[in-house]
Amino acid sequence: MAAWSVPVSKIYRGNETISQSVPRIKGVRDILPDETPVWRFLEQKIHAQAAAFGYREIRTPAFEATELFVRSVGSETDIVNKEMYSFTDQAGKGLTLKPELTAPVIRAYIQNNLHREAPLTRLYYIDALYRQERPQKGRLRQFHQFGAEAIGSPYPEQDIEIITLAYDICSAFCSDLTVRLNTIGDPSSRSTFLELLRKSLEPHSAAFGPLDRRRLQSNPLRLFDSKDEHTQDLLDRFAPRIHEHVSSEDAEHFATVKSGLEALGLPVLHDPKLVRGLDYYTRTTFEIISPHLGAQDALCGGGRYDRLVEDLGGPSVPAVGFAAGIERLLIAAGGELPGQVPPNQVDVYLVSKGDRSTQPAIELAAKLRKSGYVVIMETLRRSIKAQFREANRTGARAVLILGDDEIAAGSVTLKLMDSGHQETISLDRATDILGDYLRPERPVDGG
Ligand code: HAM
Repeated sequence: MAAWSVPVSKIYRGNETISQSVPRIKGVRDILPDETPVWRFLEQKIHAQAAAFGYREIRTPAFEATELFVRSVGSETDIVNKEMYSFTDQAGKGLTLKPELTAPVIRAYIQNNLHREAPLTRLYYIDALYRQERPQKGRLRQFHQFGAEAIGSPYPEQDIEIITLAYDICSAFCSDLTVRLNTIGDPSSRSTFLELLRKSLEPHSAAFGPLDRRRLQSNPLRLFDSKDEHTQDLLDRFAPRIHEHVSSEDAEHFATVKSGLEALGLPVLHDPKLVRGLDYYTRTTFEIISPHLGAQDALCGGGRYDRLVEDLGGPSVPAVGFAAGIERLLIAAGGELPGQVPPNQVDVYLVSKGDRSTQPAIELAAKLRKSGYVVIMETLRRSIKAQFREANRTGARAVLILGDDEIAAGSVTLKLMDSGHQETISLDRATDILGDYLRPERPVDGG
């Protein structure tokens, strides 16, 4: 049996075989035609806002070497430990559907030598990601993010730019947002803190579950990501605060980022427990949260990661970035996005009757579309009455009727749906005459 052969679900009724539909995978969603205009509108805003800050779009492959995420996100994180969709290809290589985009973007930056083009590279993305989490509202197994990475500047103004870009986009659609901010310092000062953290929690290690007990030994910072209430309670009571154990340069960096954001009027809240669930962060960590999201309250997360480029084999350059969840943003926005315009209206429904009218109808539709009209033509060969019903359903502004009589006379009948006005016009001049009544909805290509 070939590796890809799967049993096909079939039901047998007598001699008849009925195929069953293949169920959708848990935790994934179809984005249906009623929803795609909202997505497109949001995506256009993201493209426009990223461009306004000088960021350029990057697109990376759907899968990467598993090692990329183990080395960057970290082997003790939930993402790498429990959530990755990893598989082995036919050549035995370990691959993973991307669970996040910072590591792929940095891999692309290094491999394409983008650092040689300019000392600072500003990149943004909109993409689908995969994490095998327990699905619930705002938490999916395939979800979408937009995000940005600024690679090259160590200075606090770069952090401020990234957080402002994230906040500008999110706040264009969602209200009541808060920016949670913290600093976790540089790894050079972190080992002393980690030792202190371990020492202060070790006397209580019996109260931890197996996973958190392991984290206490291997990577105690990850305890802050724990979903276990006991662990969070012990952290509240006994853990030292990381921002109190960073270098004076790191503390100054943090103070400048915080005051810079406050001066811009952003609602900033210092959250001393915010360490973020990925290993690559240094100094600044932040999240944008919404009270309208429930348990999954983070709309956006990010921070500085000054060591990652070098750790992945690139030059020693600092970087900072963010990513926001599109599904969560839509939930927080309450379904409708402010400023959204209705999708293109249908200008013309082309009613055809009789065999000889099909090809002229195809040609007329093509001609009208070239002039910018949105045209739907009949392809189900329905009765005239049913075609008019369909024209009404689509909200078409006009109907053009092309039947054998019209073909013979070189004409077409125009009916305006609003006023009911009807007239017979010359087929050759249909576009011009239609223009006396309707302006095309769509911009003409190249026009
Ligand atoms: P993250 O916090 O793992 O960070 O994800 C960022 C955002 O993606 C979250 O705040 C959330 O809105 C959304 N998200 C994450 N997981 C899911 C899920 N299962 N379902 C729906 N939405 C989800 C990162 O991914 C980092 N790469 C961010 C970053 C960029 N740091 C620096 N640069």
